Amino acid sequence: MKNLLVTGGAGFIGTNFVYYWLDKYPEDHIVVLDALTYAGNKANLTEAEKNPKFEFVHGNILDQSLVETLLENHNIDTIVHFAAESHVDRSIHGPDEFINTNIVGTHTLLKAAKKIWLDADNKSHRFHHISTDEVYGTLGPDDPPFTELTPYAPNSPYAASKASSDHLVRAYHETYGLNTTISNCSNNYGPFQFPEKLIPLVIINVLFNKPLPIYGDGRQIRDWLYVDDHNRGVDLILEKGIPGQTYNIGGTNEWANIDIVHLICDLLLKKFSNDTSLAKQFANSPAAQANHPASLISHVKDRAGHDRRYAINAKKIKNNLGFIPEESFETGIRKTLTWFLDHQPWWNELLDVSYKDWIAVNYA
Ligand code: NAD
Ligand code: TYD
Repeated sequence: MKNLLVTGGAGFIGTNFVYYWLDKYPEDHIVVLDALTYAGNKANLTEAEKNPKFEFVHGNILDQSLVETLLENHNIDTIVHFAAESHVDRSIHGPDEFINTNIVGTHTLLKAAKKIWLDADNKSHRFHHISTDEVYGTLGPDDPPFTELTPYAPNSPYAASKASSDHLVRAYHETYGLNTTISNCSNNYGPFQFPEKLIPLVIINVLFNKPLPIYGDGRQIRDWLYVDDHNRGVDLILEKGIPGQTYNIGGTNEWANIDIVHLICDLLLKKFSNDTSLAKQFANSPAAQANHPASLISHVKDRAGHDRRYAINAKKIKNNLGFIPEESFETGIRKTLTWFLDHQPWWNELLDVSYKDWIAVNYA
């Protein structure tokens, strides 16, 4: 039985992790620590809060004494650290929060973990740090995918802040013997993703007849993984991963942005033609008049320093820990579309914030 502290558990991947874990390990206790920034949503955890083994704490990972108190009072043996500023565009226009949360915040957690788990008395423990493939930089069209040995070459302030936090986690293992593991995952998609990220943004803009902004030529490539598969990978690392090690997680699923946008448009058009209630619910969507939503595609100025291609070599986690993604892109994207169509109240509330912010960031 484990007692977990999940940081950032009210965000996209953290929320999915909480539901995955409560379902799979009903004996375990989970405490979520989340500062509820624009990306955190306590309502995501409404169902979890009905479970007596779950507790939500509104607080900041920068608050070391709060973290120490939580580690002690809840007898925490496992930290799963998701909390971060996570959006590349925001990091370009305002890097300070990324430095504070992603670097200083991670270091604060490490200090608290060392104090409670190592200095006070030597408790069995694990600190798992959630990171990204963006730390490795960008690939050319024919380059082999990133392995765990690819040198770090982060290009955005977001990627640099995550790279820096990875180095701190590694150092706390090497120097102090903290039992750490790190996972570097590719782009996630699925339920609860904040609608400033490509996939939910495109879905929602199609429904509201808004432009689908494609940065530059749209031929940039990302390696997409359904969020539950990411969390299955984290589960395997917690169960069988070796302290001090790093594991890449990915779906071997490379897509150019423009192709994903066309795919979402095609699938939404089909959904509208199979379900006439959607035309009533989203009357402004071109799909409601059987028009192809791809007409909304609008090429806009490219992102500064935009990485051209990410791709993950996931052989280490596959061969050593038995990781195999359960969702294909076909099944994962269908589930995601259905979830967003069924959860309009969830994203309606966030829409104003995310769309206005998006406009502010991109047309500043
Ligand atoms: P998100 O932006 O949806 O959620 C981040 C959560 O962290 C929010 O709930 C927010 O309130 C919380 N948070 C932010 N600052 C905090 C602070 N100082 N103290 C406490 N809580 C704070 O992010 P996400 O997409 O769920 O990403 C989660 C983690 O996974 C991040 O570390 C990110 O770098 C990593 N990651 C994301 C992806 C992806 O495709 N989304 C891919 C690989 C890795
Ligand atoms: P995003 O979802 O922001 O993830 P990341 O930057 O972490 O990869 O973006 C995914 C890709 O989609 C990235 O190449 C940028 C591109 N993009 C657009 O073309 N238009 C958009 O409006 C957004 C948000 C992203």
